[in-house]
Amino acid sequence: MTTVSLIGPGRAGRSLAAALADAGCDVRDVLTRHDDVTSAARGVDVLVIATPDAAIAEVAARVRPEPDTVVVHLSGALGLDVLAPHPRRASLHPLVPLPSAEVGRVRLRSGITFAVAGDPVAAELAGVLDGNVVVVEDEHRAAYHAAACIASNHLVALMGQVERVATSAGLDLEAFVGLARAALTDVVELGPGAALTGPAARGDDTTLERHRQTLDPAEIPGYEAGVALARRLATERAVHDSAATDRCVTDGAETGATLALTSSDGAGRPEARAGGRRPRRAKVMRVVASAQEFSDVLDTERALGRSVGLVPTMGALHAGHIALVERATAECDVVAVTVFVNPLQFNDAADLAAYPRDLDADVAVARSAGASLVFAPPVEEMYGAQPARMASTVHVEGVSEGLEGASRPGHFDGVSTVVAKLFALSGRCRAYFGEKDFQQLAVVRRMVADLSIPVTIVGCATVREVDGLAMSSRNTRLEPGQRRAALALHRALRAGRTCVERGERDPVRVTAVMTAVLVAEPLVTPDYAVVVDPSTLECPTEVLGEVRLLVAARVGGVRLIDNESACASAAVSVRQDRVLVNTGEER
Ligand code: PAF
Repeated sequence: MTTVSLIGPGRAGRSLAAALADAGCDVRDVLTRHDDVTSAARGVDVLVIATPDAAIAEVAARVRPEPDTVVVHLSGALGLDVLAPHPRRASLHPLVPLPSAEVGRVRLRSGITFAVAGDPVAAELAGVLDGNVVVVEDEHRAAYHAAACIASNHLVALMGQVERVATSAGLDLEAFVGLARAALTDVVELGPGAALTGPAARGDDTTLERHRQTLDPAEIPGYEAGVALARRLATERAVHDSAATDRCVTDGAETGATLALTSSDGAGRPEARAGGRRPRRAKVMRVVASAQEFSDVLDTERALGRSVGLVPTMGALHAGHIALVERATAECDVVAVTVFVNPLQFNDAADLAAYPRDLDADVAVARSAGASLVFAPPVEEMYGAQPARMASTVHVEGVSEGLEGASRPGHFDGVSTVVAKLFALSGRCRAYFGEKDFQQLAVVRRMVADLSIPVTIVGCATVREVDGLAMSSRNTRLEPGQRRAALALHRALRAGRTCVERGERDPVRVTAVMTAVLVAEPLVTPDYAVVVDPSTLECPTEVLGEVRLLVAARVGGVRLIDNESACASAAVSVRQDRVLVNTGEER
């Protein structure tokens, strides 16, 4: 287990401390730069300096170097020279905004990209956080960081201008947010050149002049800068398009290829990663109800050399699903979301009838999270006229039988059957499932392994509300008092985890600690609180290595589940509480 201390309890420092602790690191001290930091590098694998850039060199100089400790800074723009006294140095810069420690804690573990340099420990930490890495050496740091600032800070500043100008027309910013979001989706799907629209790109000077006449003079410099950038992009696009057309005509003449493939690498594949850009995605979001069409679309994408990500859902998409789609979008060229309320996994007809259905809303959410295909079949498309009469179903023995399987007989047979069908239709892909439904994830993993299904299962960390409640569509059914009481599930898991990490090896005693937290909350009726092996879901006789803690309880009429991992070899982690309450003015 990696031991980490930090200097700088600002937003970035606290986000990272909490995310690393969540990911199983042993987070020791979180110091401010005004503390005595002389010995901060002693006895830890990694010391992170999370202060503002201007203070990093001075803080690093005050820390006594330790031969084995890697000192890491979080700056995007600075090289490793600012950590000069330390023999092992690295930088780790998350490419994600961290508006608060609570949001940052989740975002840092959502499959983002980290820019790293120096000691390989930086890339390892990124891996612990489930991130991707790009290596940015010192000479490119400033340009890299300028690009990052334009993508985040300048974009936000532009939206500030949108708000001011909108206000002058008597409108709220809200009216323009959808427009901005759609434009950004187009940038992701098509690239900036093809996504550009509007009068500057069209050369419509009359309209631009009309804008200038009405704008507050203080807005003009910003507006002109935007017009200049749009014109530059439009010119670059025109040059690129004419070159692509020339190439296409030449290729077509030589190979007989059709002109439909406007950009090709000459081998018939679409332009893939020229300049590091992802392949272009379909401009339009496709929504298909036919299983054959779904299958055909994904076959075509793969034939064009694109990787496929699949996010199976039952709709009612919330932040937890968005995190899955965003992760899939970051890792795959094409992302399909399935929206199917699967009757086979409901054992209560009333529950099935009451399940929320709003396909338009789901399509909008899936699209804005980066998906380009939604498969929303009617029941008969999946199961014929009588779902209950299916002759072939999938039963995964063992993992599907206890816990949720015990309280919802047949539920996991329904899940594994529909997921097997979706995988058969989608073909080779990466499929994303939330760890929130940990038993479901274990069942799907087992089924894929046993049946050699060519799908890679990606488990994604549970997305939580700021106060720790796991995101679930059921949360909306909780009344305010029940909503507060529901936090007992997360508290119970935290208590169980602390107990394991403090050295308790008897699963019965860990269970007792979690149950005690649940029963202490009058509105909560516990169903189970258990310690299990993460892959078999069997209760071990002794807590060794990594285990999973699972709880289920009723809060009012709503049944909630949650889970968390704990590592028996972990050192004391109660310090995490300190991390979360700390506040500071730094980074
Ligand atoms: O987790 C869900 O939403 C469903 O169980 C799944 C995996 C989409 C199967 O219907």
